[in-house]
Order: sequence, then C-alpha cells, then structure tokens
Amino acid sequence: MVRALITGGAGFVGSNLSLELEAQGAEVTIIDDLSSSNFKNLTDFKGELIVQDLATFDLSSRFKDVDFDIIFHQAAITDTTFTNDAEMIRSNVEGFRKVANFAVERGVKLIYASSAGVYGNGPTPMREDQKLSPLNAYAFSKYLIENLSLKYTKRYGITTVGLRYFNVYGPKEEYKNKSASMIYQLAQQMKAGKRPRIFKYGEQFRDLIYIKDVILANLKAMETDQSCVVNVGTGQATTFNQIIQILNETLSISFKPEYFDNPYTAFYQNQTLADTKLANKLLGFKAGFSIEAGIKDYIS
Ligand SMILES: NC(=O)c1ccc[n+]([C@@H]2O[C@H](COP(=O)([O-])OP(=O)(O)OC[C@H]3O[C@@H](n4cnc5c(N)ncnc54)[C@H](O)[C@@H]3O)[C@@H](O)[C@H]2O)c1
Repeated sequence: MVRALITGGAGFVGSNLSLELEAQGAEVTIIDDLSSSNFKNLTDFKGELIVQDLATFDLSSRFKDVDFDIIFHQAAITDTTFTNDAEMIRSNVEGFRKVANFAVERGVKLIYASSAGVYGNGPTPMREDQKLSPLNAYAFSKYLIENLSLKYTKRYGITTVGLRYFNVYGPKEEYKNKSASMIYQLAQQMKAGKRPRIFKYGEQFRDLIYIKDVILANLKAMETDQSCVVNVGTGQATTFNQIIQILNETLSISFKPEYFDNPYTAFYQNQTLADTKLANKLLGFKAGFSIEAGIKDYIS
C-alpha cells in the first residue's frame, strides 16, 4: 500500500488527488491550514487531516514514527491578486522549503505544483526552456520554488517533479471563490440568468485543463525517477468568448458577453498555451479531455 503525504489536500487539486489516491488503495495524510479551502471538499475522505500552517510546521517531529512513499505538495496561497507580496512569497516558499527538507530527510520523491504563471506574457506555445517572466508575487513564488527544487535535486540527489499547471477547472473549485476558474465564474453568472462578464474584448486565451487530467499528470509523475519540471496543459487554446459559446451550448442558453475594462493589466496574463511535448516524453502524460468534453463532464 502506498503511503502519501499531500499538502494543500483540502484545496481544489489536493482534495481531488487525495480522494483518487484513496480510491486506488493509498493511505493518505493531508496537511492544510484551510486558508483558501473548506473541509466540505473532504467529506468522503478516510485519512488523516492535520490543520497546520506548513511554513511553520515541524514535519520531522510530527511524523517521527511515520514513513511516506511519496509527497505531493499542493499547498500555496493561490489568489494571484493577493496584495501582500512579502507574505505571499514567505508563505509559499517557506512552505515548500519545509516539505523539501522533509523529503530529503526521508529520501522520498517530491511532486509539487508549479504554475504556468512563471511564463508571464511570454511567447506561446510556452516551452519549459523558454525565458521565464513572472508578473506577480504568486508567479514569482513558484519561480523561486522551481529554482529551489533544482538546487535540492543537485545537492541532495532527491527526485523532484515540478508540474506547471495551466488553468485548471472542475469539481471542488468553488471554495476558491474569485480565484476559481473562468469556466466556473462564467457558468455561475449564466446559470443565475445574468450576462457573463469578461474583460474587453474576450479574445484573451487560456490553456484550460480539466481536473481529471491534472490528477492523471500527478499519477504519471509517481512513475518517473527523473527530476524535471514540465507543463501540465492540453495544448489547446480557448478564448473567453469561446468559453461562453461552449457554456451556452452545454447549458442550452444563449447569453451574449458583457465586456468591461481589465483592472489588472499590470500583471495579467493575456494568453497561456502549453507546449505539451516534454510532459509527454518524460511522464507519458497527455491530457484526455478537450475543452468541450471537460465542460460537459463538469456540468453533468
Ligand atoms: N487551479 C489552478 O488553475 C492552478 C494553476 C496553476 C497552479 N496551481 C497550483 O496548484 C496547487 C493547488 O491549487 P488549487 O487550485 O487546488 O488551490 P487551492 O487554493 O484550492 O488549494 C491550495 C490549498 O493550500 C492550502 N494552503 C495554503 N497555504 C497553506 C499553508 N501555508 N499551509 C498549509 N496549507 C496551506 C489552502 O488552504 C488550500 O487548501 C497550488 O500550489 C497552486 O498554486 C493551480
């Protein structure tokens, strides 16, 4: 039986991952401070939930007599509009450092969430080896984490796999509130009978990846012994206007978008699109859900 430690396991990705691993027979322990999530994501969870702030938590003592086979690090402040840069970086990086130190101490593989945010407004499709240009403190914290993971791998020889998630959507994201995906926000507005509001003029695009594919990428990452940082995207770009069109078709309604000025232009990613070749080569990962199939599965 696999024993997994999952940080941020009460959140959107972490809770889906925890439940899937349990369904596959793993014993799962979660550490989460519930700062951006809700226990309701875990009402089917059978394992142990430790409510602690990772950045100040002593993993070594708490797990003195417990061994893990694998560590998944999902915990992070995930609100990209959070304005306290120092706190964002401190919390995200120190949380990662604690987990990485623990992985070194136990000689366990560490799979961690990075973000397509590290690419900023770089050229698309975004390739792992292109110049990174994080636009906000959130993306910068991920950039620092990736650098730290490379250092740990080199210095201590542990395997680290960084997954640069693109824009994830799916069940259990609702507690992220305004940080939930565009698909969630727009569907909520449209289901409430309102015109969907998007930034002028809706031609920004995203590589939107369904949660089931993100979980698959994490499972694939368990199988490799090669340290790496790879994109977790679909390779398919969808504009905000197209999301509304697909939602209209899926929900059998026909709302027209209402455009408004983007208040976040200084640090906003206008486009994201993954080059998916490296993840396919190193992890054997390929997203299975097209945007249409993902939205259909989600809504149903
Ligand atoms: N959802 C996406 O589109 C997306 C895209 C790129 C990267 N990511 C990354 O994937 C990971 C999971 O994101 P998510 O969408 O599930 O977000 P989420 O906010 O739902 O989950 C993050 C979890 O971490 C917990 N947490 C935050 N700081 C903590 C701390 N110091 N100690 C303990 N727990 C803490 C939160 O309470 C929450 O449960 C994050 O690292 C995020 O940066 C997500």
